[in-house]
Amino acid sequence: MASIPLLVDFDPGIDDAIALSYLAAHPEVEIAGLIATGGNVEVGLVHRNALVLAELLGIDAPIARGAERPLVQEPMYADDTHGPSGIGHAKLPEPILAGDPRSGAQLWVDLARARPGELVALVLGPHTNLALALEIEPELPRLLKRLHIMGGAINHRGNTGPTSEWNIAVDPEAAQRVLVAFTGAPQRPVLGSLEATEAVRFTQDTLDRFVALVETTGHPVAQILVDALRFYFEFHEADGFGWMAHVHDPLVTAHAVTGDFAATRPLAVDVELAGTLTRGQTVGDELGRWGREPNVEVLTDVRAAEFIGHLLETLQNGLVRTGRRG
Ligand code: RIB
Ligand code: CA
Repeated sequence: MASIPLLVDFDPGIDDAIALSYLAAHPEVEIAGLIATGGNVEVGLVHRNALVLAELLGIDAPIARGAERPLVQEPMYADDTHGPSGIGHAKLPEPILAGDPRSGAQLWVDLARARPGELVALVLGPHTNLALALEIEPELPRLLKRLHIMGGAINHRGNTGPTSEWNIAVDPEAAQRVLVAFTGAPQRPVLGSLEATEAVRFTQDTLDRFVALVETTGHPVAQILVDALRFYFEFHEADGFGWMAHVHDPLVTAHAVTGDFAATRPLAVDVELAGTLTRGQTVGDELGRWGREPNVEVLTDVRAAEFIGHLLETLQNGLVRTGRRG
């Protein structure tokens, strides 16, 4: 019996695809809805990837297409990181279903209103559609049980600009509105920023374990994840990190589901919008200079090896259980 209803707003995206596979494989997770947000690739491709992955994973939930562009900034995409399709070298079939006719923002609001206080929300891409949802329903922070975010870099180099992380950099205005709106929420949002998620390093050994999943589960998504990860490794090698991959979304996702594999610490965080060099930076007030109450719980003390073991074990057990073979 699923005991954790989740709403996922994401931009698949290679690590998003791993995170969704983990959720589908986890025996206690109910996926209440998916929102495709433009980010790693443009929103139409993100929506297509979400539809196909959900179908292959046996996920039965509304899947809405998000806004065409960020709130203010011109769109930017990460084809170099995730591939032109968004899923690396993987070849995905065409989706069978068209997805939910509502906007991403409306689906956020309708799901939260229908299940007040129940839904755990995960944002694994830019915050565009959550910000738009807050314009429709300002009570969202009190209608959701808790919000978990992959984004930002707190006193840590960025991965997009020198000080900015991708999900925030794509739509800084949206991220800032979300942090302001969720300030004072019943439970502080959990922020998995780069200094935490980059503790998770996939190596060749990890890749070999994903290859083994193909053989032991026979699930089509297992092969998709291997082909996607090969592209991700190639990108990281070309970017100077060596043959490895920083895999961000799955750690934040597993922590949202289990509360495990990392600790958290309260911090007041805001987003720089005007900096000529630092626009999109998530600024953490470590010494309390702003005199503000903490508005997020930042992930710390990541237990990466344990997390990777849990991820692979959950996929192994769950992909077999969904019975989607061949
Ligand atoms: O900076 C990493 C984040 O940006 C991840 O969510 C990845 O999928 C990209 O969206
Ligand atoms: Ca993502």
